[in-house]
Amino acid sequence: MVKVTIKDNSGKPITNFKATADESIGAQAQANGASIPFSCGVGACRSCVGKVTKGKEFLNPEAIGPQHISVEEDEVLTCICGVKTDAPANEEIEIECENL
Ligand code: FES
Repeated sequence: MVKVTIKDNSGKPITNFKATADESIGAQAQANGASIPFSCGVGACRSCVGKVTKGKEFLNPEAIGPQHISVEEDEVLTCICGVKTDAPANEEIEIECENL
């Protein structure tokens, strides 16, 4: 399982965990102690947005459901974003959350 590090908006690491592909990054981050705020929970606001600073190629931005708003190229909505099922176990993903 790929390792995910969640950082706050100043770049300080808040938590890290081995991510599974069956649940959103945001939900897994919350379960591991990072209180990423969710509002809609379905990819239609920016509450949970994060800037991917490493490993974007291992993320599926719409793993859990369709994205209803557009975000910057380096951003994901963590409530619907998940890791790709074929993401190599020794790789790392880092996400800086705007509202954390
Ligand atoms: S909580 Fe609204 S887009 Fe994720």
